[in-house]
Amino acid sequence: MLPTTAGLLTMRASRAAAPVAGFAPSKLVPPWLPGQHFVAALVFYALGAIGLVVAAPDLSHGYFFLPRVIALVHLFTLGWIVTSIFGALCQFLPVAVGSSIRFPRLVHLSFASLTLGVATFVVALLASNRSLLLFGAFSLSLSFTVFAVNLAATLIPVRERSLTWWALAGAAVFLLATPAYGVVLAFDLHDGGLADRFGTIGQHAHIALIGFVLMVVVGVAHRLLPMFLLSHGASERAAWAALALLFGSAALLTVPWGGRSRIAVAGALGSAGVVALLVQVATFFKHRQRKAIDPGMSLAASGVLGLGLAVVLAPFALSRGVADLRLLTTYFVVVLGALTLFVAGHYYKIIPFLVWNHRYGPLLGKRKVPRVSELFSERVAFLDAALLASGLAGLSLGILLESEVLARVAAIVFAAGAWLQVIVIARVALRKVA
Ligand code: HEM
Repeated sequence: MLPTTAGLLTMRASRAAAPVAGFAPSKLVPPWLPGQHFVAALVFYALGAIGLVVAAPDLSHGYFFLPRVIALVHLFTLGWIVTSIFGALCQFLPVAVGSSIRFPRLVHLSFASLTLGVATFVVALLASNRSLLLFGAFSLSLSFTVFAVNLAATLIPVRERSLTWWALAGAAVFLLATPAYGVVLAFDLHDGGLADRFGTIGQHAHIALIGFVLMVVVGVAHRLLPMFLLSHGASERAAWAALALLFGSAALLTVPWGGRSRIAVAGALGSAGVVALLVQVATFFKHRQRKAIDPGMSLAASGVLGLGLAVVLAPFALSRGVADLRLLTTYFVVVLGALTLFVAGHYYKIIPFLVWNHRYGPLLGKRKVPRVSELFSERVAFLDAALLASGLAGLSLGILLESEVLARVAAIVFAAGAWLQVIVIARVALRKVA
C-alpha cells in the first residue's frame, strides 16, 4: 500500500527532526483554519487565568453558582478547551480518520459563532444582561451544531471505522446535546422555573465533559500519545472499554427520564470510563520507546492523573451537591483543571510541530534545520508545567481548606504558568526562519 501524503509528510518531519513525534501535515488543511482557533483559545486562556486570580476568593468559599464564576467556568470550558478541540480536530482529522474536514468554509462559521458566543456569553453573565446571554447561548449552539454536522459529514464516507472514528462519532452526538441543556439553563438564569436547577447543571456539565470532551480525549489520545511517546505494541482494549463506558454514561445523562437510579448508573459508567482511559494512557506510557518524558507529555500525564482524582471525589461531591458547596467547587476545579493541563500539554507538541512543518519542512535537504524540540526552551516549558500543575493543586487545596490566601496565591501561580505558556507558544508561532 502506498503511504498517504499525510504519512509521507509526517515521516519526513519525524526523520528530520528525530527524535520528534509527528502530527498532522499542514499541507492538507490551510494552517489558518486550525491556527485561528489556537490564537483565540490562547487569548481566552490568558483572560481566564486573570479571571481565576480575581475569582479565587469566591471559589475558596464555594460560591460556584455566582454568575461571575459561571462566566469564568465557560472562559475555560468553551474558550480554552472547546476552541482548542475544534482547532485540533481541523488539523488532526486527516491523520485520525484519513479525511480532511468535509466543509472547510463552514469551519469559519463555527469558529466565528463560537468566539462571538463565548465573548457575549461571558460579558452577559458579568453584566447580568438577559438578551445578550440568550444571544451568546444561541451563537454557541449554532457553532456546536455546525461543527457537529461538519464532523459527521467528514466521518460518514470514511470506510475504516477505527476506535478514533467511533470516539469522534460519539463526540459529534453529544456536541448536539450540550447546547440543548445550556440554552435551557440560560433561560432559567433570568426567568427561573427549573424544578431541579442543580440536577440540570450537573447533567449539562457532565454531558459536555463526558460525552464530548472525554470522548475526544479517548479518540485523540489513542492516535497522538503513541506517536508522541513512540509507544508500540500497547493493547487497545482499555480504550475500547473507555469509549463504550463513556458513551453509555453520556447517553443515560442525556435522556430526560429514569430518575435517580439513572443518574447513579451514569455516574458509575462515567467513573469506570475514566479509569479505563487512565489504564490505556498508562499502557501507552509503559510501552514507550522514548524514556525521557518531555514537558508536553508530563502536562498531559498530570491532566490524566487529575481525572483519576476527580473520579475519587465525584461520588462524594455529587451526592452531597449543594449541601457541600466547597467540595462541589473543588471537584469541578479538579476536573476542569485536569482537562486544562491535558490541553496545555498538547500545545507544546502540536504548535511547534505545525510551525516546523510549515516553515522548515520545505527547507529540508537544502539547508540545516532545527529539530522541533529546539523551537523552544525545554527548561522553560518544564518550569511552566510545574507552575500550572502546582497552581491548580494549591487552588483545589485552598478551596477544601476554605483559605482565601492559599486560593489567591495558587491562582497567581497558575496564571503565571498560563501567561508563560502563551508567551512561549506565541514566540514559537512568530519565529522567523533565520
Ligand atoms: C452551548 C454551549 C453552552 C451553554 C449555552 C452553556 C450554558 C450554561 C449556563 C447558562 C450555566 C449556568 C447554569 C446555572 O448556574 O443556572 C452553565 C453551567 C455550567 N456549564 Fe455550561 N454551557 C455551554 C457549554 C458548556 C461546556 C462545553 C461545558 C464543559 C466542557 C460546560 C460546563 C458547565 C459547568 C461546569 C457549569 C457549572 C458552572 C457553575 O455553576 O459555576 N458548559 N452552562
